[in-house]
Amino acid sequence: MLKTIKYLIGTTGPSGYGSKSTAEHVTDNCVDLQSCTAIITGATSGIGAETARVLAKRGARLVLPARNLKVAAKIKDQILSEFLDAKITIMHLDLSSLKSVRRFVSEFEELNLPLNLLINNAGKFSYDYGITEDGIETTFATNYLGHFLLTKLLLKKMMTTAKATGVQGRIVNVTSGIHTWFSGDLIRSLGQITRDKRHYDATRAYAISKLANVLHTKELACRLQMMEANVTVNCVHPGIVRTRLTRDREGFITDLVFFLTSKFLKTIPQAAATTCYVATHPNLRNVSGKYFADCNEASNSEIGCNRKEAARLWSFSEIMISTDFKPVFAPPTMA
Ligand SMILES: NC(=O)c1ccc[n+]([C@@H]2O[C@H](COP(=O)([O-])OP(=O)(O)OC[C@H]3O[C@@H](n4cnc5c(N)ncnc54)[C@H](OP(=O)(O)O)[C@@H]3O)[C@@H](O)[C@H]2O)c1
Repeated sequence: MLKTIKYLIGTTGPSGYGSKSTAEHVTDNCVDLQSCTAIITGATSGIGAETARVLAKRGARLVLPARNLKVAAKIKDQILSEFLDAKITIMHLDLSSLKSVRRFVSEFEELNLPLNLLINNAGKFSYDYGITEDGIETTFATNYLGHFLLTKLLLKKMMTTAKATGVQGRIVNVTSGIHTWFSGDLIRSLGQITRDKRHYDATRAYAISKLANVLHTKELACRLQMMEANVTVNCVHPGIVRTRLTRDREGFITDLVFFLTSKFLKTIPQAAATTCYVATHPNLRNVSGKYFADCNEASNSEIGCNRKEAARLWSFSEIMISTDFKPVFAPPTMA
């Protein structure tokens, strides 16, 4: 109850920020980002677009991968109309395709840019059951597996940039508080929803993918530490905000739900605050493997803290991204 009241009135936490802080506000005191290159996925809309706008305002060079280059060009123009000097490159990436992720990384490498920040923000809430060309359930493939491969392939670049510049690299995984709604065996449940359409439940699929983001953060943080990499990784819950995430279900019921919960909703600038805080704030130097909400470290579910589950998901993900992976989840082919 007290927590809810604090959220509603925007009480600030130990960081000095809270639920009502905006992305611009939390980056007021960040170092000049002129020499920083950031990749932000899902910047064509919602939280990602605001994150891109604010990081451009602070001087960062942006690489915005998007599956729709026309929309990405519009976002680029919008940012440039506000900040004439912004350096923005748009590139094609469909996170639900492992082939597309590999192609994006090789094209990015050809640009010979450094990489300081990777913001894994793109996300999908898919009401309908779907399987990707790689034989993986679509929500999981987009929200988690594509980002898992993207991060893995970009890690070397981030490590060498950090070494050459002495500036710590940061990875931010955008998850959701909904990850706490799932308990059980993640890999088994993923298998069930992938194999059989009848087991598909959109909220459960979304929660599984967002728990995977949390576990990915946990395991990657341990691996980065073991490698003595000057790169951190954290994950964030942005808060609840009306964006295009619910695009599949626009209409009266969705309007009503948003109306009834309007007191709890954030604005988009508020929802981008935690990402921008974790990506840039000097307080978070050397902080890694943590979960943040309302711009403060927060606790997550028991399973989200489970190191064994994190390592198990990592091993399974390595198998799923391997080029000779035969989709064990693929639905049986019709005779
Ligand atoms: N909104 C909330 O209340 C809320 C709450 C908790 C967590 N989140 C998380 O916040 C993040 C941002 O969501 P949002 O609310 O800003 O939603 P949004 O407005 O729908 O933005 C999602 C972004 O992800 C991109 N995307 C989706 N599928 C993709 C794919 N296959 N390949 C590449 N990009 C893809 C979208 O691009 P297109 O335009 O091409 O579709 C869009 O740019 C997500 O990770 C979401 O899970 C949101």
